[in-house]
Amino acid sequence: MDENKTTEALRIENLEINLLMAAIKGTIGYDLSGYAKASIKRRIEQLVIDENVQCIADLIPRLIHSPECQSNFINRLTVNVSELFRHPLSFLSLRESVLPYLASFPRRDIWIAGCATGEEAYSMAILLEEVGLLNNTQIHATDINTEVLKQAKTGILTKALNKEDAARYQESGGTSSLSNYFSAAYGKNKLSQNLLDHISFSHHNLLQDSAFCSAQLIMCRNVMIYFDINTQNNALTLFNNSLVQHGYLIIGEKESLLSSPFNSLLQAIDEPAKIYQRKGI
Ligand SMILES: C[S@@+](CC[C@H](N)C(=O)[O-])C[C@H]1O[C@@H](n2cnc3c(N)ncnc32)[C@H](O)[C@@H]1O
Repeated sequence: MDENKTTEALRIENLEINLLMAAIKGTIGYDLSGYAKASIKRRIEQLVIDENVQCIADLIPRLIHSPECQSNFINRLTVNVSELFRHPLSFLSLRESVLPYLASFPRRDIWIAGCATGEEAYSMAILLEEVGLLNNTQIHATDINTEVLKQAKTGILTKALNKEDAARYQESGGTSSLSNYFSAAYGKNKLSQNLLDHISFSHHNLLQDSAFCSAQLIMCRNVMIYFDINTQNNALTLFNNSLVQHGYLIIGEKESLLSSPFNSLLQAIDEPAKIYQRKGI
């Protein structure tokens, strides 16, 4: 616990964290300096325990000399959990309030930033199929982590479909049975190929890369929560610049734009569902 550490111990710990972050930047190219310090620190402390080393600095040679360690560290420092129809209220509001507006475009681009293992992109494809909008829509799903992108591209769920998935799908206004959209593959559930064909998965770092596409809808949930305030604002600038006028942004259940400078550029359409719309000029 930090409160039990002496000032000197904390100084050394911070120094070690900074050195580890420099080693991560130098080996993998990820700049973690824009992430919320407390959350990065917690995960680094967990790595020390899991890797069974004495101190944070001991992680550095492992990171530098072992490619296996590099992807393992990144998987652990970036949190990759996701699920189908996560925060169903948001998908329900999307279905009822946003998609009727998006239907007026001859074709649509949807950007899912920080897609992890793909469940959000799969849910979006299912929803679009149900409202008849999938055909002229391209879903661009991006993430910083190439390991999770490899998994997402297969269309195979990391966990078998379960009744919680089905319940969230129903809560989000699902009109069919969730299992209808999946086939069996190697004892697992795979998203139907006609849905998967509408999703592209690509590497994109929200901290370093420029706008990914011009989109009518951007979904970035449970990603900015790990960033510090400046980095959150940089990501929001990127989203604001990537949205067409009156395009929509959906953020995570525990994220908010209320105290952000973007409150004046993006208007809340449904605050509990975390749906915002870019204002016209
Ligand atoms: C907790 S998951 C959220 C997954 C999904 N959006 C959801 O809400 O279910 C966070 C994802 O953000 C990704 N991520 C973290 N930092 C990122 C960055 N700088 N650029 C792009 N993606 C990032 C992680 O790799 C991880 O897959």
